Amino acid sequence: MRIPDVSPGAKVLALGHYQPANIVTNDDLARTIDTDDEWIQTRVGIKERRVAGVEESLEDMAVQAGGKALAASGLSAADIDLVIVATCTLETQIPNAAAVVAHRLGIESPGAFDVNAACSGFCYALATASAAVRGGAARNVLVIGAEKLSQWIDWTDRSTAVIFADGAGAAVVGPSDIPGIGPVVWGSSGDKSEAIAIKDRDHFLRQEGQTVFRWATTALHPVAKEACERAGVDPSELAAFVPHQANLRIIEAIARKLGADKAVVAKDIVLAGNTSAASIPLALSRMVERGEVRSGDLALLLGFGAGLTYAGQVIEIP
Ligand code: UT7
Repeated sequence: MRIPDVSPGAKVLALGHYQPANIVTNDDLARTIDTDDEWIQTRVGIKERRVAGVEESLEDMAVQAGGKALAASGLSAADIDLVIVATCTLETQIPNAAAVVAHRLGIESPGAFDVNAACSGFCYALATASAAVRGGAARNVLVIGAEKLSQWIDWTDRSTAVIFADGAGAAVVGPSDIPGIGPVVWGSSGDKSEAIAIKDRDHFLRQEGQTVFRWATTALHPVAKEACERAGVDPSELAAFVPHQANLRIIEAIARKLGADKAVVAKDIVLAGNTSAASIPLALSRMVERGEVRSGDLALLLGFGAGLTYAGQVIEIP
């Protein structure tokens, strides 16, 4: 048997993101459901979110974000041989989003599959991309987190309508002599699988908010610490902490317990809402765009959500 030449490491080469143009404020929602700006900002931290129109599909958003990451990487479509889309809100069961998005980006015949680990999906996909590059299964991988949650939300249910939103974020992962993506720490609590669910195509997303809140604020900081430990990084060395953007109170609680005192903490939820698998690459890409972190800085990513699933890893900012 011949083992292909493998790369000692993989790293994120570039990032990109996309949000729909349509901004929905808390006051907009308060016109149709029994809620108000103060409740949403105090309990969730959201001021506004983006919602795609009927004419804009999940794949459209993924193509936009993926195209930007690809352009920023300096690679061409021909250099990509694997495309992974992390999503839990695709309208169709088949085909998957990855093959469609790859085709629209002019990436010819790549490996293409979707990952459904809900809000942890991007971290799962990034770990898979890193393993594929290091193991010789791919040279460069386009990893996209994309969600159109608006099509799975009951817009009369105030417990979910104020939280979820649409968007996409992407990363190009390629080989590197020095590893730029740390070991993933991933896991799940299937005993709580009922806590967030879209039962079938005739149902909307429902979540037991307090169950998930309690779990997120008590079970996840050890995962965050372990991801640092496995990367050989002390939390004090982190320049950024980019957790899933579920709730500002959850983000702040985990950040406090992590003790990453110098890290910029992503609070993208304020203007982007909860975009599930898109939230981490979206927040990270926007953070880089704003110049809040520099190339070579270390960032901890931490996804968590339906399943319940979680995953986290330290990465080097491209
Ligand atoms: O992304 C996947 C992972 N998901 C999460 O991490 C979500 C975790 N959970 C949460 O973020 C929070 O539990 C929520 C934001 C979902 C809810 O916040 P909460 O502080 O747990 O509120 P609650 O569900 O306990 O509701 C408190 C009160 C209730 O009224 P009563 O029974 O006390 O009279 C609700 O009916 O707030 C009411 N309420 C609202 N009031 C105004 C619920 N939603 C709203 C609303 N506007 N939109």
